[in-house]
Amino acid sequence: MEGSKCSVTLSVNGTSYTREVEARLLLVHFLRDELGLTGTHVGCDTSQCGACTVLLDRKAVKSCTVLAVQADGCEVTTIEGLGRIDKLHPLQEGFWEKHGLQCGFCTPGVIMTAAGLLDENPHPTEEEIREGLEGVICRCTGYQNIVRAIQYAADRTHQAEPEPVVEVAASAPTGAQDSLRQEGEDA
Ligand code: FES
Ligand code: FES
Repeated sequence: MEGSKCSVTLSVNGTSYTREVEARLLLVHFLRDELGLTGTHVGCDTSQCGACTVLLDRKAVKSCTVLAVQADGCEVTTIEGLGRIDKLHPLQEGFWEKHGLQCGFCTPGVIMTAAGLLDENPHPTEEEIREGLEGVICRCTGYQNIVRAIQYAADRTHQAEPEPVVEVAASAPTGAQDSLRQEGEDA
């Protein structure tokens, strides 16, 4: 017997999708089977491995624990929406540079978990990174390089942050400040 259908509208990687789905459909199956976004993996049936992690309204969630209807009206980001082949996200770059993956099965979930972590805490300590990864399992057990990859991404993001804007009058050399003052007095 077919279950009851509901209409859901989600923004996924910046594109809006509306589908009629069964009320029991999990978000991970919506992404993989309805939208063909197979970068989000299913690694267990017990909500433990984290391979299915995506960002839901910028928070990292295990998409096998969320119903598609619960995500109605939300913004979802999957690994496909994080960077582009010609402009990798700092996390993707970090996993490349620091050899943060072996078989790669856990990698999308680990990267999305790290994206949620860095969004909340752009400068995490090693301990905070390890704590943030508690919900994901790498069967190849390459945790050391995963942590290095996330540290790399945090450093890159930090370097890309704009310099604070400084008041021109306050930072100008004394001569320039004098002429500014003079111009003010002449006006
Ligand atoms: S597939 Fe979601 S936690 Fe394992
Ligand atoms: S790289 Fe193989 S499971 Fe993590």
